[in-house]
Amino acid sequence: MNTLAAYTTVCLLITLDARLIPDNYSKERRALLDEETFTAVGGKLHLNEDETIVNDILMKWKMKELNPSYTNPQHFNFSKHYFSYKNDIENSKVYQIIRRMPKGAVLHVHSSLMLHPDVLVKLTYEKHLYACFADDDLRFYFSEATPDRPCLSKWALVSDLRKSSGDPVAFDSQLKNYFTLYKEDGEDYNFVDINTVWQRFNKVYYTIKSLIAYRPAREKYWTETLKQFYKDNVMYIEVRTGLQDLYELDGSRHDKKYLVEVYKNVTAKFIKKHPDFIGVKLIVTKHRALSIEHVLEALNLTRRLKAEMPDMIAGFDLVGQEDIGRPLTDFLPILSEAKDEINFYLHAGETAWLGTSADENLVDAILLGSKRIGHGYALTKHPSLMSAVMKKDIALEVNVISNVVLSLVHDVRNHPLASYIALGLPVVLSSDDPGAWSAEPVSHDFFVAFMGVASKHADLRLLKQLALNSITYSALEDESKTRLFEVFNKRWDTFVRDVISDECLLDTSVS
Ligand SMILES: *[C@@H]1O[C@H](CO)[C@@H](O)[C@H](O)[C@H]1NC(C)=O
Ligand SMILES: *[C@@H]1O[C@H](CO)[C@@H](O)[C@H](O)[C@H]1NC(C)=O
Ligand SMILES: *[C@@H]1O[C@H](CO)[C@@H](O)[C@H](O)[C@H]1NC(C)=O
Ligand SMILES: *[C@@H]1O[C@H](CO)[C@@H](O)[C@H](O)[C@H]1NC(C)=O
Ligand SMILES: [Zn+2]
Repeated sequence: MNTLAAYTTVCLLITLDARLIPDNYSKERRALLDEETFTAVGGKLHLNEDETIVNDILMKWKMKELNPSYTNPQHFNFSKHYFSYKNDIENSKVYQIIRRMPKGAVLHVHSSLMLHPDVLVKLTYEKHLYACFADDDLRFYFSEATPDRPCLSKWALVSDLRKSSGDPVAFDSQLKNYFTLYKEDGEDYNFVDINTVWQRFNKVYYTIKSLIAYRPAREKYWTETLKQFYKDNVMYIEVRTGLQDLYELDGSRHDKKYLVEVYKNVTAKFIKKHPDFIGVKLIVTKHRALSIEHVLEALNLTRRLKAEMPDMIAGFDLVGQEDIGRPLTDFLPILSEAKDEINFYLHAGETAWLGTSADENLVDAILLGSKRIGHGYALTKHPSLMSAVMKKDIALEVNVISNVVLSLVHDVRNHPLASYIALGLPVVLSSDDPGAWSAEPVSHDFFVAFMGVASKHADLRLLKQLALNSITYSALEDESKTRLFEVFNKRWDTFVRDVISDECLLDTSVS
């Protein structure tokens, strides 16, 4: 282009600008966008000087890692299955910042599926452990002699099987496959339908459950789980548990209260070593496919345990695949009767369907006074329910990676969390069953939500508000909540200082 042509083009643009764009258009445009930023989760937070520096560092890396995808979307990891990029996550600078960030509390996790499969494999080195491999399934039992219980093949000591395999490493990696849906070089999970993936998920659950029903194994399991969550900067956990009966080596069984005591004692021991860990509360669960009688029994149990150990019991929930389980309306009489005595934290709307009973569980969760809603994935499709959630300040426990692995959403840019954040709904992030997909306790979920779901512009304020929400919407008593806020603030300041000083080191080493 010659200079004259260039000159003319520029002039033309200027005149066009002047003619078509009203004086205050850009002001109005800015005002609309600012209003949305202000409304969104974290939009009202004010960052201090140091936090602003951290935010600049965070956003610099975020843009560096995301920008190439806007023009080459085929490289955008978060529109693929979590398993396809899981092992690359730790290389991300954004992730490294998120990993060290204090998360506050984790409020939606299931007791048997919290621990990484590598640690579960270590638990199989415990003495007296028998295994029954049959029909692509695996069950464990601890016993002095060969277990006198049904097995489609035959019970064998794990130590013997490992030895006779001739290749303990291969044996262990085979074992690990029974503990998680994630397989190295595994099949493409992208288009596995929801029922199939839930069947595999349930298999993993029953295998692990059989391993940790033995009292000493359960104590180790819980200690290791606390270690991992603490390392991931989680300071308090609410655990959903069906409270299975534990047994001893001689086959004697404990009652359900005993497991609550195990949680309490093991956690107390952990807190002795790590005084800034606040603790654990349990949400008692029952499977939603069971009878009304069974659920009533569980409600009675919850009531009794809450009376005996009030600091340990947060409330009650129904679990299991919602699409094929009983709707909440089946249990309405007994749930209504219990709702003034027991706090509910109900799973609802964990479905991709619209207008089904799983979808409409959202209505009942709200009417039954659920304190928080587990998933609430279908909520965006219900404007009236959404305003009820807002008005009643019911927190949504969102588990993005779980929704991908359990086949509700395939490209997380389409996850409803984006709308919940934009509307400023009371959202908390959690991880549901991180062990079942070999994820970190909750950092992977924060990372995927921040990079894959939230706006390009979402920054440190979103991350901080999500962590703060997890404390605000926890079942902690006022005093403990205040302590958790104190611990959080202290750790947050350290986090901010550390990110800044690391970046300074990086700068000087480069120059
Ligand atoms: C822009 O101009 C219109 C018409 O004069 C006025 O109503 C509106 O308030 C202005 N908007 C801003 C953001 O100043
Ligand atoms: C995305 O995945 C590729 C490899 O599959 C990896 O090189 C890259 O670092 C990943 N990016 C993020 C942000 O995780
Ligand atoms: C828990 O600790 C208390 C007090 O030390 C003890 O009496 C109780 O037997 C313990 N219970 C379990 C299940 O470990
Ligand atoms: C539950 O408790 C109620 C009231 O105490 C009692 O009537 C009922 O029989 C109990 N049901 C079960 C299944 O435990
Ligand atoms: Zn769940």
